[in-house]
Amino acid sequence: MENTAPLMSLKKVNMYFKKPGSVLKDSNIHVLRDIDLDIYPGEIVALVGESGCGKTTLGKIITGLYRPTKGDIFFNGENVSGLFNKKINSFNQVQFIQQDGYAALNPVRTIYQSLYAPIKTHNKKLKKAEIDKKIDELMNLVGLIPAEQFLIKYPHQLSGGQRQRILMARAISLEPKLIVADEPVSMIDVSLRLSLLNLMKDLNKKLNMSFVYISHDLSTTRYIAESGRVVVMYLGEIIETGKIGDVIANPRHPYTRALIQAVPIPDPDYKANEDLPLKSMELGNIEHRHIGCGFCNRCPYFEDICTQKVNYVHTETSDVLCNNLNKVPTGAVYKTYNK
Ligand SMILES: Nc1ncnc2c1ncn2[C@@H]1O[C@H](COP(=O)(O)OP(=O)(O)OP(=O)(O)O)[C@@H](O)[C@H]1O
Ligand SMILES: [Mg+2]
Repeated sequence: MENTAPLMSLKKVNMYFKKPGSVLKDSNIHVLRDIDLDIYPGEIVALVGESGCGKTTLGKIITGLYRPTKGDIFFNGENVSGLFNKKINSFNQVQFIQQDGYAALNPVRTIYQSLYAPIKTHNKKLKKAEIDKKIDELMNLVGLIPAEQFLIKYPHQLSGGQRQRILMARAISLEPKLIVADEPVSMIDVSLRLSLLNLMKDLNKKLNMSFVYISHDLSTTRYIAESGRVVVMYLGEIIETGKIGDVIANPRHPYTRALIQAVPIPDPDYKANEDLPLKSMELGNIEHRHIGCGFCNRCPYFEDICTQKVNYVHTETSDVLCNNLNKVPTGAVYKTYNK
C-alpha cells in the first residue's frame, strides 16, 4: 500500500458543532481533533469506537456531506476541501450508507424510484430497459429476491435490514471508488449479516472498491477487514491504528485493550477485566473532555503529564496516541482469541 498514492487523505481535520440551544460564542463542541487518515485504493478501513466518539461525523466528512471546520481533504491527490458536497459527490466517487436506513430513503418514493433516479442521473444515456436490468442485478446482488416483490414497496413497508440492503444497492449502483458504510449491519438479522459482509468483501475484491466500515462491533469488524486496517477512535481522536489482525492480537492503547477485552469470548479460562483494570467504567463525554489525553480519567497508567499533552508513538504493530506505552502490558488480551 505504501507505494500506492492514497485515494483519499485527511490532514489535520477538525470539526466543531454548535452546542444545541446555546447562544454563547465559545460553546462549540470539539467533535473531531486533528484527524490524519489515508485511505488507499481497494483498502478496507474499519473505524471503531464507542458511541458518540465521532465516527459518523468523520464518515460524513469523508463523503463530503459535512465540511470540516479546519483541515484539508485530498481526493486522488486533488485538494477538495473547499468543494464541500459538490465535486466528490457530483462524480459519485464516494458514497455514504447511512446508519439510519429509514431516514436515507424518500418515504413517498417506491424502492424502484429510489434506485432508478440516481442511476439515470449518473448515466443519462441509459435506456429504461437497461436501467431495469441493472436494478434487477443489483437486487440480486444484495439478496432481495424476487426483486419485483420489493421494488413496488415504499420504505416503511420494508424491515430495517431490507432497507439497509436497498441503501447498499443504491450506493453500488453508482460504481463509486469508495463506500463509507455506517453500521451497515447493525439492524440486520444475525443470519443475514454474514451475507452482507461477504457482499462488501466481494465488491472490494472484484471492483477494487475501497470501504470505510464504521462499527462498534469488533467481531464484524474483524471479519470484514481481516486483511485491512483498523482505526480506533476515542472522544474525537484516532488513538490507535494498524493492521486489524495485529491490533486485535496485540492492542497497545489502554482503551483498545479494554475495548477488545469487552468482546464476549466463549472461553472458560478467560477472566474479564483481569488484564486491564480501568479506573472508571463511565463512558467518556466529548463535551467535557480533558486537555491532553482524553482517556486519562479512566486510564490506570496515567501520569500528570497526560493531563497536559499526549503524543503518538510508532510501535512495531501500530501507531498509538499514548505517553505511557512502556507501562501498558503487551501481548494478546486473550490467550485463545487467535485460535
Ligand atoms: N449535527 C450535529 N450538531 C451538534 N452536535 C452533533 C451533531 N452531530 C453529532 N453531534 C455530536 O457529535 C458527537 C459525535 O457524534 P457522532 O454521531 O459522530 O458519533 P458516533 O461515534 O457516530 O456515535 P454512534 O456510535 O452512537 O453512532 C456527539 O457528541 C454528538 O452529540
Ligand atoms: Mg454514528
